[in-house]
Amino acid sequence: MEYKQLKAFPKDFLWGSASAAYQVEGAWNEDGKGPSVWDEFVKIPGKTFKGTNGELAVDHYHRYKEDIALMKEQGLKAYRFSIAWTRIFPNGRGEINQAGLDFYINLVDELIANGIEPLVTLYHWDLPQALQDEYMGWESRQVIDDFVNYATVLFETFRGKVKYWISLNEQNIFIQLGYLMAVHPPAVVDPKRMYEANHIANLANASVIKKFHEMDMPGQIGPSFAYTPNYSFDSNPLNVLAAEDTEDIMANFWLDVYAWGEYPIFAMNYLKEQGVAPTIEPGDMALLKEGKPDFLGVNYYQTATHVFNPLNGVGMGKMNTSGKKGSSEETGMPGVSKKVANPFIDRTNWDWEIDPQGLRIALRRMTSRYRMPILITENGLGEYDKITETNEIHDDYRINYLSSHVKAIQEAITDGVTVLGYCTWSYTDLLSWLNGYQKRYGFVYVDQDETQNGSLTRYKKDSYYWYQNVIATNGEEL
Ligand code: BG6
Repeated sequence: MEYKQLKAFPKDFLWGSASAAYQVEGAWNEDGKGPSVWDEFVKIPGKTFKGTNGELAVDHYHRYKEDIALMKEQGLKAYRFSIAWTRIFPNGRGEINQAGLDFYINLVDELIANGIEPLVTLYHWDLPQALQDEYMGWESRQVIDDFVNYATVLFETFRGKVKYWISLNEQNIFIQLGYLMAVHPPAVVDPKRMYEANHIANLANASVIKKFHEMDMPGQIGPSFAYTPNYSFDSNPLNVLAAEDTEDIMANFWLDVYAWGEYPIFAMNYLKEQGVAPTIEPGDMALLKEGKPDFLGVNYYQTATHVFNPLNGVGMGKMNTSGKKGSSEETGMPGVSKKVANPFIDRTNWDWEIDPQGLRIALRRMTSRYRMPILITENGLGEYDKITETNEIHDDYRINYLSSHVKAIQEAITDGVTVLGYCTWSYTDLLSWLNGYQKRYGFVYVDQDETQNGSLTRYKKDSYYWYQNVIATNGEEL
């Protein structure tokens, strides 16, 4: 639809930006922090780009005040960050590590003192290694109680101070990359184990949300889903069906569980046929229904376009983690779909498709199906940035990306979607899990390279000033 006039952004719209503990904090073994699965995984040769890790990251742990001062100056309304479980419980449970908790108490207080709403992610992939060693982490139902116990400490600590909580970040990504592609910990390739672990993660997610509501916590909680809307390459009915199947297996399979506590019919049928459906115990489905979130968080980066893929067709291909455009391998699900290039849209140097209308489509589909408020918890462009001799970063490509996506949000709001806020990914440059430090996302440039050399000095990019004006005009000037 095209409108004569777009609706204005709501007055209290949360103009935000985001990060995650492992990607920014550094201080990986300070103040009593225990090792997470990522602290160990990065040591395996060949797993990350040039062996990069988050041991120092961008040293946010020691520089958070400086980073928050930059946010304040920019006018940021909300900052989404994650808490490292291993700072609170070095071994995943047991005695609280007060020094670790104090870091987040100080961070939240500093944000609030500067008029910035804290949005807290409970889990952004850094599971305590101790729990992986003891009972194989997400593959054991023991993780549910430990996750609830950890979250309860945070709910008690930040009651009244933190009003927006994200339960699991991108369960669909950490589960698939961890148990199907072996490119995240625990580096397994086993679809059966993947769907079992995923079901347990669903139960953990629902349990934490249920606990939040039982505790009568002021505020709202929901998961963040990495939603890649699926398109058909053309009007060939076989390809249309391939796209719909992919949507069921790759999106509804998580979102239906979050919103309705039910697995989608076609995807579940497909998993049963493959012999990889999860074990559902008595009481599981009731619990999933009891853990209904208050909003759906969405991380949106791109769309995917598909053709039908026969049973003997292409399987899972390798992603582009080098930044060499065109280096990603063909990928597909045999018997379902194969991903193809969309001729209408451009791609980044990491082969991520740039599709602002796809964000509007994502918001529309989620609203049609679930009728829940949506919080955009991530959206952004990872690219090479160059700093000039006078320390300027002219990232007009990022401004174009972000402004076209913000416009798409405004269109979706005009369509009737309820959007609580928008967090760009990311605030400062940070460690991209598999792509090192050269793939930059921030408004704030950090002097840091793949060898962890650099002064860590922060410099404002052109996009920093652009967003400052977007916030000041409440989205009127994009
Ligand atoms: C999301 C994650 O998948 O996308 C972030 O929640 C991540 O942690 C971001 O950094 C961008 O992905 P990448 O692979 O380019 O770092």
